[in-house]
Amino acid sequence: MSTILVTGPTGNVGKHVVSKLAEAGLAVRALVRDPSRARLPAGVEVVSGDLTAPETLEPALRDVEAVFLIWPGFAAETAEPVVAAVAKHARRVVYLSADVAELAEDEEPALFHQELERLIRRTGMAWTFLRPSGFATNTLGWAGQIRQGVVRWPYGEASRSLIHEEDIAAVAVHVLTSGGHAGAAYVITGPERLTQAEQVRIIGEATGREVRWEELPPETAREELLAAWGDPEFVDGAPAAQGSSVAQGSSVECRMAESSSAGCSTSARMRLDMNRAVRMAVPLRVTSLTSTRPRLVATSTRRPARVATTS
Ligand SMILES: NC(=O)c1ccc[n+]([C@@H]2O[C@H](COP(=O)([O-])OP(=O)(O)OC[C@H]3O[C@@H](n4cnc5c(N)ncnc54)[C@H](OP(=O)(O)O)[C@@H]3O)[C@@H](O)[C@H]2O)c1
Repeated sequence: MSTILVTGPTGNVGKHVVSKLAEAGLAVRALVRDPSRARLPAGVEVVSGDLTAPETLEPALRDVEAVFLIWPGFAAETAEPVVAAVAKHARRVVYLSADVAELAEDEEPALFHQELERLIRRTGMAWTFLRPSGFATNTLGWAGQIRQGVVRWPYGEASRSLIHEEDIAAVAVHVLTSGGHAGAAYVITGPERLTQAEQVRIIGEATGREVRWEELPPETAREELLAAWGDPEFVDGAPAAQGSSVAQGSSVECRMAESSSAGCSTSARMRLDMNRAVRMAVPLRVTSLTSTRPRLVATSTRRPARVATTS
């Protein structure tokens, strides 16, 4: 049986990818930095390796047919040798990117996702890019404030179509286990565009507690974001992207479209499960708010509008 290597198997998306592949009875290998700490489903082969140390990856890549690749950090210094090693061993790669613009040949990548996509394209191996919008789990960042009953944050009217990480994983598994996806880049979003203030209201409703939104001037938020995210360039870019989403309204970002020309569909249920955002803070009362099928659009043949991403 051909083996699929999953990177980031303990993360938000990777943990679901590993579980779904294992449940399907496929040969799954998980790349972890510390095998003693990784809690993975029975039957998953655990191999240690570090994406920041490409020379450690050989055992994990040996005899794999496909790789589910995530790039966990902001910097991509070791991306080139890692991608080369993947291409040397595997026939296919499914890369968890973000909703980024296609680059022209002479254009400099603005985000590490674009850099990874370019490196992967240049290897000549079969690739598929998953370009999700914001993860539902991002709202966990508000958990502490939700516990206090008020979320103070900038750009309450900024909206995104959040997607549940398990649904991203379902798409990844579909692509990994079926044909016809080579050279496709799939934008995947949740079912509904919600402003940040609406997200907070829904979390309040779902958890049975009153939570209000309080608009925070972007300058005040900068210090908090710096503490949370570290990278000043990223911190300065994200509020700008949120600000532009307020200015441009519903025309940006939410690009749900009919099933792609590559014929990709998924039976994954969309569960924008806001309760996850406050799991640590309050008792759960509602487990699912919406249910629909995520739909995909192949973007490899067109050049989407440049949309800054806050991922
Ligand atoms: N959040 C969003 O809204 C959003 C939207 C679009 C795209 N994305 C992209 O999604 C990716 C993150 O996915 P995620 O949220 O599922 O990940 P995550 O929860 O942040 O987990 C990161 C995973 O990578 C592993 N890891 C970290 N450093 C590593 C290293 N040096 N070598 C090998 N493995 C390492 C971690 O394993 P251990 O720590 O257990 O070793 C963990 O399994 C990023 O590229 C992000 O830009 C995010």
